[in-house]
Amino acid sequence: MVGQTMSELVRFSVAIPEDLLMQFDNLVARRGLAKNRSEVIRDLIRDALVDEEWDDPLQEIVGTLTIVFDHHASDLQNKLDHIQHAHHEKIISAMHIHLDAHNCLETIVLKGRSDDIRTIAESILGVKGVKHGRLTTTTTGRYL
Ligand code: NI
Repeated sequence: MVGQTMSELVRFSVAIPEDLLMQFDNLVARRGLAKNRSEVIRDLIRDALVDEEWDDPLQEIVGTLTIVFDHHASDLQNKLDHIQHAHHEKIISAMHIHLDAHNCLETIVLKGRSDDIRTIAESILGVKGVKHGRLTTTTTGRYL
């Protein structure tokens, strides 16, 4: 993050059941060569902290909403545009990709209070004709 320096690394020991440690090491292996136990533990801690941040409705957060829809569905694109225009101050970016002859993918980046972002995302996901969608949550940087 700009303007933020990484704080000093501190070592600590953890007691963990052997079978759980084996499963954890498998997870570390699946995350690729660039990751080791320490890196994956740091990632998991950050995940938990970001999730907790999202539980606070007043917390400023960032979310990425990805949706897939058929642009032939009646009035669907208009409805999606209408919702996005109504919340333009919280939608900081949107990308539209024409996946094939029928399907479109949109990625919408939202920034604002957790409760507002959830409400906007749910209203977009609730539009008839949206086939699939998911809100991915991240943070504005406190834990990065
Ligand atoms: Ni399209």
